[in-house]
Amino acid sequence: MSGLRSANRSSRPPENGASTRGRSSRLLGLSLGSAAVFAVLFYLWGQELFPRAAGRWGGTFPFVGAVALTLAVALFLTEWFGFAGREVRKVRLAARDFIFLCSLALLLFFAAKAVIDLLAEVPAVGRGVPTRVYAYLIPIPAFAMLVRVLINSETSILFTVAASVLSAAAASGRWPALLFLLLSGTAGAARARRVPDRYRMLMAGVQTAPVCAIAAATLEYSFHGGGGVLWAGIFGCVNGLLSGPIALAVMPVAEYAFGYASDIRLMELAGTGHPLLSRLMMETPGTFHHSVVVGTLAEAGAHAIGANPVLCRVAALYHDIGKLGKAQYFSENQAGTANIHDGMTPGLSRAVILSHVKEGVRIAGEYRLGDRITEIIAQHHGTSLLYCFLDKARPMILDRKASEEMFRYPGPKPKTREAAIIMLADAAEAAVRSLGHPSPQEVDETVTSIIDRIYLDGQLNECDLTLRDLHAVGRAVSQVLAAVSHGRVDYPEAGKGAAG
Ligand SMILES: [Fe+2]
Ligand SMILES: [Fe+2]
Repeated sequence: MSGLRSANRSSRPPENGASTRGRSSRLLGLSLGSAAVFAVLFYLWGQELFPRAAGRWGGTFPFVGAVALTLAVALFLTEWFGFAGREVRKVRLAARDFIFLCSLALLLFFAAKAVIDLLAEVPAVGRGVPTRVYAYLIPIPAFAMLVRVLINSETSILFTVAASVLSAAAASGRWPALLFLLLSGTAGAARARRVPDRYRMLMAGVQTAPVCAIAAATLEYSFHGGGGVLWAGIFGCVNGLLSGPIALAVMPVAEYAFGYASDIRLMELAGTGHPLLSRLMMETPGTFHHSVVVGTLAEAGAHAIGANPVLCRVAALYHDIGKLGKAQYFSENQAGTANIHDGMTPGLSRAVILSHVKEGVRIAGEYRLGDRITEIIAQHHGTSLLYCFLDKARPMILDRKASEEMFRYPGPKPKTREAAIIMLADAAEAAVRSLGHPSPQEVDETVTSIIDRIYLDGQLNECDLTLRDLHAVGRAVSQVLAAVSHGRVDYPEAGKGAAG
């Protein structure tokens, strides 16, 4: 229960030796592939990097140089992301993340070549402006913001350093360009902390602009004197101002192609006009109400510990979509009707209830809800027990016809603080719902016992929630539950603390 505190994005699970080796070899393969692309680009455009050496090896130098550069870039990428992936928990990149980052780095390289080479050719722009100054237009702040919004802050810093080194080659490897790229990329990433709407993204760019302008002007003056300082400042400022619009333009493409879900996308998913939420509302009204309440609880819990409240609320809205089509099997949809499980064997009930997690993941993929929501759907019950059917199955367990483990959800356990908050809110809501009209004290006692049970069952072993966080989430959930359970409609007793 140690606390890596960045709230934004998922932490990655711990790995064993075999999977680490497998991941390293995958990373090496991907690095070699992407490095080869870079080397070809360097070879095509970077004559200054491949001077046609005279003498004995002159004829073969370009080829040997391209191979050597491929190996060098591959080594750099493998070492850089491999080291970070081993030692920094949140930088354990999947192959998809690595391909996304390499694609962005390539795009940045093209953008760098475009602004440096093409703008210099345009007479109206290029007149009187030193060519080197165009390097301050390389849009790395936009890309660093994008990586932070779509993956996490740790990866955005690593990406900024790696992409700066590679893109600096487009500016002939000049020191001012490299330093500017490092500084402006970091500034862009730092200002894209919480971006729930387009306005915030544009504002992040506006706030980055003065940093880029000052960085460009001071670096230009330090290395080349006063000649291009004004243009450097203007270009740096324009770069910062454009970073928001560029990130906004690239983001939907990245979300669609790589399955990411930014906070902006999450806010779009929160609208009840989404077809999946409309279905949930019409076909399983009890589950819809339960999901809205869990969303409110989870949002309060996230605010209490500095986790991501937007992710908590929206993921909670969708956490039980796997119940679509099987509404009558779940207690929140049985108001006024008999409990269908009374006429079923515990084994059959178990199969129906457990399947809502897997079905939820399938539907989330079908509707492209994005990785963050899908992961939370998969993790929202962890490997917890189906307590409501355990008593009924006790004779079978005693006869050794079934085991207690069969009545556990398949997992995985929550990997992030947001997933853990939703697990706690979900279980707490289901337990308090079954109490009817509880007093605030009864709500508090029930929430505390549910949290204790989840903690002692080891369900929070794989996430970064501290004991202090757990206490704060419990308090926030109790307060909101006490408020929302006052005077609401009764649900039946069935399923206390279960199948939420
Ligand atoms: Fe639930
Ligand atoms: Fe559930």
